[in-house]
Amino acid sequence: MSFMQINDLHVHYPIRGGFFNTIIDRVHAVDGINMEIEKGKTYGLVGESGCGKSTTGKSIIGLEKITSGSIIYEGKDVTNKQRNKSSSYNRDIQMIFQDVHSSLNPRKRVRDIIAEPIRNFLNLTPEEENRRINELLAIVGMSEDAKLKYPHEFSGGQKQRIGIARAIACDPKLIICDEPVSALDLSVQAQVLNFLKEIQQEYGLSYLFISHDLGVVKHMCDHISIMYKGRFVESGTRNDIYTNPQHIYTKRLLSSIPDINPIGREDRKVQRMQVESDYMTNHKIYYDETGKVFDLMKLSDSHYVAMNANTKGGS
Ligand SMILES: Nc1ncnc2c1ncn2[C@@H]1O[C@H](COP(=O)(O)OP(=O)(O)OP(=O)(O)O)[C@@H](O)[C@H]1O
Ligand SMILES: [Mg+2]
Repeated sequence: MSFMQINDLHVHYPIRGGFFNTIIDRVHAVDGINMEIEKGKTYGLVGESGCGKSTTGKSIIGLEKITSGSIIYEGKDVTNKQRNKSSSYNRDIQMIFQDVHSSLNPRKRVRDIIAEPIRNFLNLTPEEENRRINELLAIVGMSEDAKLKYPHEFSGGQKQRIGIARAIACDPKLIICDEPVSALDLSVQAQVLNFLKEIQQEYGLSYLFISHDLGVVKHMCDHISIMYKGRFVESGTRNDIYTNPQHIYTKRLLSSIPDINPIGREDRKVQRMQVESDYMTNHKIYYDETGKVFDLMKLSDSHYVAMNANTKGGS
């Protein structure tokens, strides 16, 4: 049973211009997506730069205004709710931000950055708070002397860990992880990803996992949605997406994964060429006349793909 439903979410940014700085157009950053989030599951959001992944995450957490659609959390409508200290939604839903450099206040010490949600949502004594901060730093593999330092004294990877410590400080139910490891080197990536999996098992956490990296997504996610121009082109279990991709965009994305295994390399090269030729001849039937992605059609209980009757016949 899902605890959160995201229904027909739209986020449009106004573009201003002209002499009176009026709204002359809108960027349809998120343009009608639906999701259901279940306890203990990881949902991947994949797609090229600018397709609307971060905007989706930020609008769920309340940092971007939702133009239309709704977010229902534990039966309550939380769409465009003001973020405030007393709301359980703001405690339960946390985010690890893509841009680590601007998501940590440069004027605050690490202790105060991590303590922010603790002070907002938990009623701890100073000693308890200090113990909790030490615990969180240990969880993310940092030493206690980090507490008195400022963000600029840390590397990108270390800052990301501070962001993770802050996100998990108050036992959230859902963490939106926006490219949580893309700034980290490979060994630290594996450490952070395994750590995210461990705490998921321990606390039944759910993740919305945003990433460019299809290898990381395959490792982390139970369910994956592929996004293009603010809409989902395909959505399904890891198996649906990696073994039975249906949309040309998904096929191209998968065939672009760098090939490091020499066994079967020739076969994969042939497959890649087939996908490219399918794209060259058929890509128009995967989108409507304005280039917009079609609505999702159900292929199975878990697998959905954006196509119309025309695409089905042609692919
Ligand atoms: N504050 C804003 N004002 C106007 N347009 C915006 C704003 N933020 C994002 N956009 C536009 O919305 C679209 C989606 O941006 P978003 O940051 O969600 O993409 P993304 O999928 O996270 O990309 P990336 O993989 O590069 O992080 C882009 O076209 C972007 O230019
Ligand atoms: Mg982004």
